[in-house]
Amino acid sequence: RLLRGRTMETPLLKAPQKRQVTAIIILLILLMLWEVGGMTIKYSVLEERESGSFVANLAKDLGLGLGELDARGARILSKGNQQYLQLEQKSGNLLLKEKLDREELCGDTDPCILHFQVLLKSPVHFIQGELQLRDINDHAPEFLENEILLKISESSQPGTAFPLKIAQDLDVGSNTVQNYTISTNSHFHLFTQNHSDGRRYPELVLDKALDREEQSELRLTLTALDGGSPPRTGTSQVLIVVLDINDNAPEFAKLLYEVQVPENSPVGSLVITVSATDLDTGTYGELSYSFFQSSNQVIQAFEVNAVTGEIRLKRTLDFEEIRSYRMEIEASDGGGLSGKCTVVVRVTDINDNPPELLMSSLTSPIPENSPETVVAVFRIRDRDSGNNAKMVCSIQDHLPFVLKPSVENFYTMVTESPLNRESQAEYNITITVTDLGTPRLKTQHNITVTVSDVNDNAPAFSQTTYTLRVRENNSPALHIGSVSATDSDAGANAQVTYSLLPPQDPQLPLASLVSINADNGQLFALRSLDYEALQFYEVNIEARDAGSFSGKCTILTQVLDVNDNAPEVTVSAFTRQIPENSPEVMVAVLSVSDLDSEENGKINCTIQDDIPFLLKSSLENFYTLVTKRPLDRESKSEYNITITITDLGTPRLKTKLNLTVTVSDVNDNAPAFSQTTYTLRVRENNSPALTRSCPWRSRAASAGRCPVPEGHFPGHLVDVSGTGTLSQSYQYEVCLRGGSGTSEFKFLKPIVPNIQGHSPGPEIEDNANFRNDFGFSIQ
Ligand SMILES: *[C@@H]1O[C@H](CO)[C@@H](O)[C@H](O)[C@H]1NC(C)=O
Ligand SMILES: *[C@@H]1O[C@H](CO)[C@@H](O)[C@H](O)[C@H]1NC(C)=O
Ligand SMILES: *[C@@H]1O[C@H](CO)[C@@H](O)[C@H](O)[C@H]1NC(C)=O
Ligand SMILES: *[C@@H]1O[C@H](CO)[C@@H](O)[C@H](O)[C@H]1NC(C)=O
Ligand SMILES: *[C@@H]1O[C@H](CO)[C@@H](O)[C@H](O)[C@H]1NC(C)=O
Ligand SMILES: *[C@@H]1O[C@H](CO)[C@@H](O)[C@H](O)[C@H]1NC(C)=O
Ligand SMILES: *[C@@H]1O[C@H](CO)[C@@H](O)[C@H](O)[C@H]1NC(C)=O
Repeated sequence: RLLRGRTMETPLLKAPQKRQVTAIIILLILLMLWEVGGMTIKYSVLEERESGSFVANLAKDLGLGLGELDARGARILSKGNQQYLQLEQKSGNLLLKEKLDREELCGDTDPCILHFQVLLKSPVHFIQGELQLRDINDHAPEFLENEILLKISESSQPGTAFPLKIAQDLDVGSNTVQNYTISTNSHFHLFTQNHSDGRRYPELVLDKALDREEQSELRLTLTALDGGSPPRTGTSQVLIVVLDINDNAPEFAKLLYEVQVPENSPVGSLVITVSATDLDTGTYGELSYSFFQSSNQVIQAFEVNAVTGEIRLKRTLDFEEIRSYRMEIEASDGGGLSGKCTVVVRVTDINDNPPELLMSSLTSPIPENSPETVVAVFRIRDRDSGNNAKMVCSIQDHLPFVLKPSVENFYTMVTESPLNRESQAEYNITITVTDLGTPRLKTQHNITVTVSDVNDNAPAFSQTTYTLRVRENNSPALHIGSVSATDSDAGANAQVTYSLLPPQDPQLPLASLVSINADNGQLFALRSLDYEALQFYEVNIEARDAGSFSGKCTILTQVLDVNDNAPEVTVSAFTRQIPENSPEVMVAVLSVSDLDSEENGKINCTIQDDIPFLLKSSLENFYTLVTKRPLDRESKSEYNITITITDLGTPRLKTKLNLTVTVSDVNDNAPAFSQTTYTLRVRENNSPALTRSCPWRSRAASAGRCPVPEGHFPGHLVDVSGTGTLSQSYQYEVCLRGGSGTSEFKFLKPIVPNIQGHSPGPEIEDNANFRNDFGFSIQ
């Protein structure tokens, strides 16, 4: 174990720099000493030997005899404080003073050399000594970390190497880490590589591609072995986390989803939830759902929740519009991969559409009296399906119309029998269409059918006979009544025209008595009626409509009498002068009459009470005026008798007649005229002036009065008209009676007409005008 020789071993400096510097300084000192002594003894010993272990026999190695070391005062000197060796003076053995730990004393430095000096005091002599401390495998490899984390993408290709951390071993040489092993696995093998620093570096080499989705992490045990025999080992856990790559596309649970949705589902209701999975993690596994190339119809009706995959209604569905939707849903992951599925949504029908009625044609009005007539043609439909779309169609009972189904969903409404406008002119028809869905929905359509008129009715008078009563003396054109005929038809067919029918007896004046207003049936008198002429007449009236129908009625007209005639009186056999002292003398004969009838025609005839005259009724309507008793001219020579003739009508009409009777002496001689005939000439167109003259020229004429001389009278007179103007010339035979100052005369008869050349009498002055100046009067 003693290394002899002067060869200088240059230690391999592997220590850290600070330590190296220290070592270099020590080495330099040793070298100086070495130069001084010139001799080095070298020993080697295993580390970790017990203290007191034998290293060498120094005396023997120095060639000194027993006790010589002791004699020379040999001592072991070492650098620093620490003494590794002790010298047994007697035996000269060099022993370990204590147990030495190579790793502590030298660390990585190999070989581990401890320097010491042997001092011989007498004579003084320094001997350099080196103690090499040899390594034993007293340390196992050790990893700094118990666990090594490796993140390896699953996309890594086989053959890829992944360096691992190395283990440390405090021992040196072959006792340090020599090899690495990895626990058995199917993906990796271990490759250890020599490095230029002499160490081996372990690497994991991928044999077979990783699949995170299959195994997301692997735990391997890395074992480091040193070169001991048997080798000591150290282990570390290698945790391999397989990093994901987007190597999986999303996949839907089903490729086809089918669902039924009632069409009345509210907006927002859930239709279906689609679900896809992606084996990848992180964003590669985060899915987002969306429509894939969907139609507008789909996009308008549905929305898909990108996160949950819920498909909800965006608006209400309408079975009648779209019965099913087909859409593709795409699920995309964060790495751009996607999967698709198909969703078929079938809309189920709800009875949400009432039936509809579409009127194709409607005929109104329809003529009455017609046989079966088509009134309406219409179509019904229901936008629902199945029972919801089946319909029944009806109208009210008791109408003279029937519904007839024709081609699919078409109906005609026809009259059941001829209609009569006069009994019902209008029908309100309600067509009710009900479907058979649940709930039942119905539609009502009201139509009004009017019946148009046909001229099938004659005008009819309200009465067949009208009795009219008219007073007579009506003003002409007086409205005397009206008749009315009605025609059940309508419009022009009901317009009635009235007319008088010609009298059955054409001789009767009748047709000319009344007229009728053709439009309104009002009757008018054509002229003033006279009861006295006609008391009763009958007229037939016809009412005719625009067609050939007519009706008749009879007007019975009674003319009512009106007290329109005053009584009339005719005086005959009037005796103007009654001789006095005579017994009952007939003064006059009165003939009375009244044209009216009944009471209106009855007559009462009276005179004053206070005169000695009496009115005697003789024959019907004949009276004689007689003296009651003999008269006495000396007491009263003249009586004014007023005869009052009254009818009994209302109002009473009366006629008065004054008769002046004179009482005369009894006298046998009649007056005598000087001439029997006088001729007077008067021009026509004479002025009505009051030029008067007496034809007989007397003195009294100048006094404006022509007294009639008693018993003397001119004879013939010419009448004067009421106006005082002579219109025509007449000759009158006049009978005169003589008397006192007053005279009476009577016109006997006219002597027509020519005066000229006819009368032999004296000519009387022109323009004579006779007025009532003669003291007589005529009533
Ligand atoms: C290292 O170990 C492996 C097996 O673990 C073995 O095959 C190989 O020969 C060893 N290498 C050395 C240099 O001992
Ligand atoms: C690495 O070193 C060991 C001994 O330290 C030796 O047996 C082996 O052949 C070397 N390998 C390579 C590849 O140099
Ligand atoms: C028809 O209906 C109208 C309007 O409601 C009504 O004025 C008329 O009297 C009705 N006619 C019949 C015949 O019911
Ligand atoms: C149809 O007529 C009926 C009966 O007159 C009435 O009740 C209903 O309101 C009418 N319908 C329409 C839509 O006018
Ligand atoms: C006629 O008239 C007188 C006098 O007024 C009267 O007393 C008398 O009753 C009348 N006679 C008739 C029939 O009215
Ligand atoms: C009769 O009537 C006339 C004329 O009115 C009159 O002059 C005369 O005095 C009357 N006589 C008597 C007696 O009343
Ligand atoms: C008739 O005599 C009466 C009485 O004297 C008198 O009032 C009346 O006017 C006379 N009538 C006529 C027409 O002279």
